[in-house]
Amino acid sequence: MKPVKVDKSKKWVGVCISPALIDQFEIDKAIVVVIDVLRATTTMCTAFDSGVRSMIPVLTKEEGFALQAQGYLCAGERNGEQVEGFDFGNSPFSFMAPELKGKDIVITTTNGTKAIQAAVARNAKEIVVGSFPNYSVLCEYLTKKNENIVLVCAGWKDKPNLEDTIFAGAVVRRLRPHFRTYEDTALIAETLFKAANRRKRYYLRSSSHFNRLFHKLQIQKDVKYALRRDTHPVIPKLYGEHLVEINSPYVAEFEEKAKAWKAARAAAKAAENSTSSNN
Ligand code: MLT
Repeated sequence: MKPVKVDKSKKWVGVCISPALIDQFEIDKAIVVVIDVLRATTTMCTAFDSGVRSMIPVLTKEEGFALQAQGYLCAGERNGEQVEGFDFGNSPFSFMAPELKGKDIVITTTNGTKAIQAAVARNAKEIVVGSFPNYSVLCEYLTKKNENIVLVCAGWKDKPNLEDTIFAGAVVRRLRPHFRTYEDTALIAETLFKAANRRKRYYLRSSSHFNRLFHKLQIQKDVKYALRRDTHPVIPKLYGEHLVEINSPYVAEFEEKAKAWKAARAAAKAAENSTSSNN
């Protein structure tokens, strides 16, 4: 049997099945899609479809409280449970109210926002979020952009999980005609998707987070909702420190903010480098 011919003229798509493996990828040469099906990126797509103006993904609860003190709504969880003192947890059902239109929300989660910050730290060309609710518009967007892609699965505390890998496989499958697969994890994810696609909840019934949410937290409705495709056709993209929906009226404002943020970040980096070279 002959190996499949790789068309080197095509851009590549890679699957990073855990943030712990992110340095195996050329993040600064790619668009990063952060995937956290249960539930961060599902929740983000829901929130932006409700008209939220921006979301700030932060690493720590303390950053969340500090921004809450400045007037931001504050959302997030640790180990799946809402952080005490936050305005919201991390259920997509908490982000469907029309009153959220135009609001700015800071969010921190166990894995999803950590994966976003890992891509920021590695100077990804662009960072967007993906999950089943924005599956088709995301794949159309990625095809039009025609850049290298790394699908970063948030997993659970650096362990791969089924749901994120299955979604990554669904994206690889849809992008296959236009991209070349970068390494075997893309093929593994696509094979898993093909095996699980018609029976996702059946497959997920033994997954760790499904059980955490289903049994420990009785949040089975979130699991069922997160597996539905194309319920929220939005593309949250990171502009500096803010996630904004790419077709929203707020993009220009946050593009300006992002320029200032990038300049400040570069100056701080230069100062850090000169200090360390003087020592
Ligand atoms: C995560 O960050 O892995 C999830 O958002 C956790 C959750 O919402 O239960």
